[in-house]
Amino acid sequence: MPAETTATATTTREGVDAHSGVLIEARDLRKSYGAGGSEITVLSGVNASIEVGELVAVVGPSGAGKSTLLHLLAALDMPTSGAVYFEKKAIDSFEGSELADYRNRSIGFVWQRHHLLADFTAAENVAMPLLMRGAGYTEALETSARWLREVGLEARTKHRAGELSGGEQQRVAIARALVQEPALLLADEPTGDLDERNAIAVFELMQRLHRTHRLTSILATHNTVLAGRADRVLQLEHGLLLPVGDRTKPGSMH
Ligand SMILES: Nc1ncnc2c1ncn2[C@@H]1O[C@H](COP(=O)(O)OP(=O)(O)OP(=O)(O)O)[C@@H](O)[C@H]1O
Ligand SMILES: [Mg+2]
Repeated sequence: MPAETTATATTTREGVDAHSGVLIEARDLRKSYGAGGSEITVLSGVNASIEVGELVAVVGPSGAGKSTLLHLLAALDMPTSGAVYFEKKAIDSFEGSELADYRNRSIGFVWQRHHLLADFTAAENVAMPLLMRGAGYTEALETSARWLREVGLEARTKHRAGELSGGEQQRVAIARALVQEPALLLADEPTGDLDERNAIAVFELMQRLHRTHRLTSILATHNTVLAGRADRVLQLEHGLLLPVGDRTKPGSMH
């Protein structure tokens, strides 16, 4: 962990620059599905504290709860108990437009399967979050073209998403996730559907964007080689998040 990230976080959005304190924290997160005899507990007390600027990999076997955890961090699902704090504020206390802003503006989410709109062009897919919040078409498409350049797809802007290769589609999905300049990038098995060469290329692209855009990134992956390139690796196992190499300190990040 870089020394400059150890300062105490401030409580305001403006106060949290690229090198100050904790961006997102999970406190005793529990998540169960079902009820009565069929209830299963996926997360049984996850504690995690992710510093601004960190790239953290979450690994764990299939079914361990990686997607569940990312969905709770993104406020796409609610925990059974416990809480997620973003910039020191509990996300279940967000009011009015705060929750939508959190999901749409503070976070960029990349899924294993890109979830692009197949009949729209790459440029339109990337511009979609901007268009949805009312940006003008020309301006949104200009911003989108800039992002497609950043992910190396300037030659594909007018191709329909359905015509692109898997690796290209995932690059478009990454550009779409970042087009609103979120503070936090959450990626759920972003390379899971790709062959090894493309998986490495997409991972390295995310690493580069992480650095150049001063992101905080949390990446769930099965790929332990790629995970090993993260700043920190956390293992989800039996409902708990444990630092790899030190299983005595559940969720300890410091
Ligand atoms: N909506 C749901 N209702 C009931 N059970 C669910 C639901 N979502 C997930 N689960 C269960 O929770 C467990 C964890 O699922 P999750 O998708 O979080 O695992 P994962 O670590 O992401 O696995 P994978 O590596 O295969 O993507 C699984 O046993 C799954 O069946
Ligand atoms: Mg999953």
